[in-house]
Amino acid sequence: MSFEELWKSADWKQEKHVPVIEGPEVVKKGEMVQFHVSVGKEIPHPNTTEHHIRWISLYFMPQEGKFPFQIGHCEFTAHGESVEGPNQGPVYTHPHATFTFKVDRAGTLYATSYCNIHGMWRSEKAITVE
Ligand SMILES: [Fe+2]
Repeated sequence: MSFEELWKSADWKQEKHVPVIEGPEVVKKGEMVQFHVSVGKEIPHPNTTEHHIRWISLYFMPQEGKFPFQIGHCEFTAHGESVEGPNQGPVYTHPHATFTFKVDRAGTLYATSYCNIHGMWRSEKAITVE
């Protein structure tokens, strides 16, 4: 299997691992904008010590660019771990992240996420700038 094939994708309404990118399709040049990226929007993903989402990253690829830019990376680090044992802890991080940024040209947002037992997932969303 090639490295590219390790990154899975699907319809997020039917596959709980796919990161969902929510935000405007058109943004104003140079103005701050927020995009929300989450895993499990339609079908909740488990969030336990044994099975959880570790991180989400968001990238921007300009339409005429050659290389992507990483906008941000969010790690989710509490999954019920405790000295009492797995799933006995008081806190569970939910795999939701909001990224705030400005951009001056059109391109595509790429979101990636990682499940500790189901691997790497991706999705994308085109944005235009006016
Ligand atoms: Fe999973």
